[in-house]
Amino acid sequence: MRLLVLHGPNLSQLGTRDPTHYGTATLADAVAVVRAVHPDTDSAQYEDEGALVRRVHDARRDGTSAVICNAGALTHYSWALHDALELLEVPIVEVHLSQIHAREPFRHHSVVAPVADVSISGAGLVGYRLAAEAARALLGLESS
Ligand code: DQA
Repeated sequence: MRLLVLHGPNLSQLGTRDPTHYGTATLADAVAVVRAVHPDTDSAQYEDEGALVRRVHDARRDGTSAVICNAGALTHYSWALHDALELLEVPIVEVHLSQIHAREPFRHHSVVAPVADVSISGAGLVGYRLAAEAARALLGLESS
């Protein structure tokens, strides 16, 4: 069963981006955490909303079994992403490195949350391990 880890804008800059909120781990480190739990994992990151939406469309027919999504700032306003994710018939786990509810008010609302089976926020890199475990549990797989 293949997991797909999707990242939105600016997450390509992890490692050097605002370490107070995001730590110093890179995007590759975050994906490696998921792969350590579930080796059959694809990953994609997009700076553009449309590209991210198109990748979600592709996930409808490419054998993706579950999606882990950190949409970056798109989380807070992209109804296009919301609508694309809503089309998926596989489990969706939303993850954020930082605790979005304890930050600026515009980050408190997630348009991804209503279409996600699980939302994880504020656990840093550990959140990716939790997300992978949650995805496996939603697929009926045993804990790794
Ligand atoms: C983020 C939180 C978002 O508010 C922000 O725009 C990001 C990263 C996180 O992982 O904490 O790009 O999704």
